[in-house]
Amino acid sequence: MIVHHRNGSYNIHFQAFEAPQGHHVIVSDTNVASVFQNRGYDTADWITLPPGEASKNLQELAKVWSQLAARRVNRKTKIVAVGGGVVGDLVGYAAASFLRGVPFIQVPTTLLAQVDSSVGGKVAIDLPEGKNLVGAFYPPSEVWIDPTILTTLPDREFRSGMAEVLKYGWILDAVLLTKLNETDLTPAHPELAQVIERCVDLKRQVVEADEFETLGIRAKLNFGHTVGHAIEQVTQYQVFTHGEAISIGMVAEAIIAEKLGLAQSSLAQQVESSLAKVGLPTRLPSSLKGSLSAESLVHAMRLDKKADNAGIHMALVFQPGESGLVHSVSESLIKEVLTQLWNEFEHYSP
Ligand SMILES: NC(=O)c1ccc[n+]([C@@H]2O[C@H](COP(=O)([O-])OP(=O)(O)OC[C@H]3O[C@@H](n4cnc5c(N)ncnc54)[C@H](O)[C@@H]3O)[C@@H](O)[C@H]2O)c1
Ligand SMILES: [Zn+2]
Repeated sequence: MIVHHRNGSYNIHFQAFEAPQGHHVIVSDTNVASVFQNRGYDTADWITLPPGEASKNLQELAKVWSQLAARRVNRKTKIVAVGGGVVGDLVGYAAASFLRGVPFIQVPTTLLAQVDSSVGGKVAIDLPEGKNLVGAFYPPSEVWIDPTILTTLPDREFRSGMAEVLKYGWILDAVLLTKLNETDLTPAHPELAQVIERCVDLKRQVVEADEFETLGIRAKLNFGHTVGHAIEQVTQYQVFTHGEAISIGMVAEAIIAEKLGLAQSSLAQQVESSLAKVGLPTRLPSSLKGSLSAESLVHAMRLDKKADNAGIHMALVFQPGESGLVHSVSESLIKEVLTQLWNEFEHYSP
């Protein structure tokens, strides 16, 4: 299947990976390189990073820059990022900065990267002071998506990507949401490719309408992320995957939307059951009660780069498929909701 969207710089194909024509450099991580090697690709020339978020740093970026210099990369060389969001973000920033910008192709190999990070042009590395603190808007010239590559993905990573997939349904597409609620998607499911395609299309539309996140449209993609990022940060990215944290975040933010009178009182329960169905956590585990206080989470939200002097903003869902940015959500309301969000409360009652 080849689907071709062309608009501005977004050129997204559904196709299996093939080394591009002409001078190119492929950068990946060691896990992904073995997956490709097992599929018969010659990966001997690939530059590889150690897998995981810990590699998305200045030291690994500097190594990639040196390798690009050693391989005489010029402004026509194609830099190809083959991997999950970590590889895509770091290699994208390397491509944005090397020689002030060289052509860059994304080949996303996780569900999260296929539906989210490879589309939209945000590239970055982490600093010890925080995640994604140094980066750029640098859209890839092409994105090549092959859903069959997801069959080797660990279950936990697949579920993590499903959190973002469900997010698209909740914020933008009630029809997609119904389909997700009725289907048990797995990496080998025949309908997965279609679902990925729909998510990519939704992300592309949002990014085209508000590329630099100034109009409140792109901000909708942050549903679950205000609380989710705070959970990730307070637990130092050690406990939850990104998808798991935003899953809990989506439930918290759905409760907040209810309490603000912006959503019907059944919304949070519906959000929660859609996430629980795919095996995602929806509550803060009570084992972390000592370290994950409502106060520490709200403190992290205040410092988030999307907060400003006017307070904490959230992308909230009003009803399935409809959402918007809500400014200055009260800190006491957020704390009240987070104080209730432990997993011993089986039934949330508004
Ligand atoms: N740029 C953006 O807009 C954007 C959006 C969302 C997330 N992100 C970033 O993405 C990163 C998370 O990305 P991720 O969830 O893809 O994590 P990841 O890149 O760390 O990949 C997860 C794990 O899966 C392995 N893997 C990847 N593809 C595989 C395959 N096909 N088979 C087997 N194993 C495979 C990787 O080696 C890694 O161990 C974070 O750094 C986050 O900040 C960026
Ligand atoms: Zn996300």
